[in-house]
Formats: sequence, C-alpha cells, structure tokens
Amino acid sequence: MAALLPLLRNPSPFFTSTSRPAHSIHRTCSSSGIRFQPPNSIKMEGRSEIAEEVGVSGGKKVFVAGATGATGKRIVEQLLAKGFSVKAGVRDVEKAKTTFTSNNPALQFVKADVTEGSDKLAEVIGDDSDAVICATGFRRSWDLLAPWKVDNIGTVNLVEACRKRGVNRFILISSILVNGAAMGQLLNPAYVFLNVFGLVLVAKLQAENYIRKSGINYTIVRPGGLRNDHPSGNIVMEPEDTLYSGSISRDQVAEVAVGALALPQSHYKVVEIVASPDAPKRPLEELFDSIKQK
Ligand SMILES: NC(=O)c1ccc[n+]([C@@H]2O[C@H](COP(=O)([O-])OP(=O)(O)OC[C@H]3O[C@@H](n4cnc5c(N)ncnc54)[C@H](OP(=O)(O)O)[C@@H]3O)[C@@H](O)[C@H]2O)c1
Repeated sequence: MAALLPLLRNPSPFFTSTSRPAHSIHRTCSSSGIRFQPPNSIKMEGRSEIAEEVGVSGGKKVFVAGATGATGKRIVEQLLAKGFSVKAGVRDVEKAKTTFTSNNPALQFVKADVTEGSDKLAEVIGDDSDAVICATGFRRSWDLLAPWKVDNIGTVNLVEACRKRGVNRFILISSILVNGAAMGQLLNPAYVFLNVFGLVLVAKLQAENYIRKSGINYTIVRPGGLRNDHPSGNIVMEPEDTLYSGSISRDQVAEVAVGALALPQSHYKVVEIVASPDAPKRPLEELFDSIKQK
C-alpha cells in the first residue's frame, strides 16, 4: 500500500473528479432505515453479546492489527489517550517497540501476522481483548498475491480468530471505492490503479462481505485518500458506495475508528469518510446516527 500513498495522499487527479465540495459528492442512497441483518450469520462463540450491549469504552482492552502502520499507530495512540489498554498486533515486536517511544504500561506488543491463520491470531488476541481494530494493509513486495493474502484472507483470519475467542466487536479500516464496479466507477483512475496492484479493492470488498455475514458487530470505515498532515477540514460521513473522491487525515480516521467503539450508532454500519473545509463540524455520534444502513 505504501506504493499507493503518493497517489492517494494527493487527491488530484485520481481522487478529485469534480469541483464540488466533498460533502456533496455522492450518489443517491437508501434512506429506508432498515438495519442490516446478516443473511447467513455464523454463530459467535464465547463471550458474544457482552461488548455489544455495553459498548467498548476506556479501561477495556483493544487488539489493534497493523499497529505499526501510519493509521494503526495513530489508532493506538488515541486509544491509550482515551484510557484503553492496547494489545498491538505487529509482525516485528522489536521494531514496533522503537515505533512507540512511550513506555505506557497499558501498551503490550504481540507478534501477529494476519496471513498465518486464525488459530495463531486467536492465541494472541487471547481472552482479554474486548474488541479488534484492523488497520492492516499489504506492504509492497514481489509477492503479487500480497494484497489478497493481507487485505482479504488476513482480515477473514482476524474475524475467525474473534469468533474463536468470542470477541464481538470489529472495526475495519477499508477504503472508498471498494465497490467501485457496482458504483459505475469501473473506469475511475483510482479504482483501476489500485486494482492493478493485486486487486486490492476487490480483496478489501471480499473481506468486508465476509465480516458482514459473520454475525460479528462490525463498523467498516472506508476513508478516502489518506494524508499524514493534521486535519484541515471537518469529517464528512456518507453511506456505503457513495463517495468516489476526496481525502482525509489519518488522525481523523483514527478518531472515527476509536470513537466508534463507544457509539452504538456505529454498530453494523459501513461508513465512508473524507474531510472538507466546507463541511460543518459535527459530533461523531451525530455523524454515525445519520447513516442508515441498507
Ligand atoms: N493509503 C491510502 O491513501 C489509503 C486510502 C484508503 C484506504 N487505505 C487503507 O487504510 C488502511 C491503513 O493504511 P495506511 O497507509 O495507514 O497503512 P500502512 O502505513 O501501509 O500500514 C500497513 C500496516 O499493515 C501491516 N501489515 C502488512 N502486512 C501484514 C501482515 N501480513 N500481518 C500483519 N500486519 C501486516 C503493516 O505492518 P509492518 O509495519 O510490519 O509492515 C502495517 O502495520 C489500509 O487498509 C489501507 O489499504 C489507504
């Protein structure tokens, strides 16, 4: 994914196909208010309903996959700042320790490669994690299947591990345009470009579909192009398959992912987010509440 950063960080020309403000860039969407019910849901084992009913808030432990990534690191930092304990799932524990300079006792590192199967992941998620946030993304390599292995199978493995451990709260950082083909964006340069690299958007959509059928209480966050700079606009949140351009600060993506843990309005929802200086500042609760899941 690192190779794609310049493309996605700079929305132009790929992520900006219109001069309208980002918050007005969407297609029509369902406003039926009907809540999504997984058609073939897999029964969760263990402590299934607890986290769903009480929400997951400060003091609880959150497993973060992809904790060393640019977004994952921000998620970890925001979780710690809000009083959560964090189990950071990383591929290289020693390297990860140098990424996080603070010696916060609430931060624990565990080795977790999402491609190594759900049993190993279940082992490290353990019986003390209340929720999982997945911020993984394939790293550029000679392995053309890496996007498929990480962004699809890896995420599926994490969900399976949650099922084995009875963890019933899952937040996924995905991407806008994952369903670009169905949105009529087949020729959108961003859609074409990203899929040239191992069908990464298709891989992410497959994983999303698995999550939605799994029965787990999910929030799928689909950001636009990610930026490392501080937020320069307010968060715009739209329903699935509506945004096809725009960008957002990784800090804001982390804010949405961490905020979702405590907000029942975010349960079983897919949301798309970008930032716009023209958008009004709205609390996360209100933003999530405005999304009526199909
Ligand atoms: N870049 C964009 O503009 C953009 C736009 C929309 C959505 N997204 C999505 O947003 C998410 C976060 O993006 P980002 O750019 O912040 O991520 P990133 O900096 O590229 O970090 C990716 C993370 O995934 C981890 N990872 C890779 N392969 C793994 C594996 N097999 N097992 C466990 N962890 C693995 C990496 O670990 P190591 O540190 O060990 O490599 C790293 O922590 C990704 O899903 C990305 O696709 C990105």
